[in-house]
Amino acid sequence: MDYKKLARQAAASRKFSYSPYSNFRVGAALLTKRGKVYSGCNIEISSFALTICGERTAIFKAISEGEREFKAIAVATDEDSFTAPCGACRQVLMDLAGDIDFVMSNKSGEIKVLKMSELFPHPFGSENFHKKKKRT
Ligand code: THU
Repeated sequence: MDYKKLARQAAASRKFSYSPYSNFRVGAALLTKRGKVYSGCNIEISSFALTICGERTAIFKAISEGEREFKAIAVATDEDSFTAPCGACRQVLMDLAGDIDFVMSNKSGEIKVLKMSELFPHPFGSENFHKKKKRT
């Protein structure tokens, strides 16, 4: 699928954003390798740390429906500039989706694409502890 189209789907999901505290609406659209799209938005909680970003909403929905192979995720905000993902989302996306394309889109619908490995070049991962030798 064309990434501009994926970005439009992310922009459409922005209307479901529940962000009464920040008023910062984020929409996400996650594309699987088979071509299915899972949408997401940010959901804010009055105890702020419990808030979830649009990216994580989308990937948790997809994983919980059995999806394991992904191609790209698009994110749309109401800003003129491009919004990069937070650190928590970088870790979650790298763990669950690997080195997919991250498509940022601004309020005009312009896009900028980066690989996850560019956004998160030296990730922590399961290989950091699975290969460890047993303690004696
Ligand atoms: N947020 C996202 O949903 N995705 C991002 O990539 C950055 C931040 C949300 C979290 C919170 O609801 C609001 O934006 C302000 O931080």
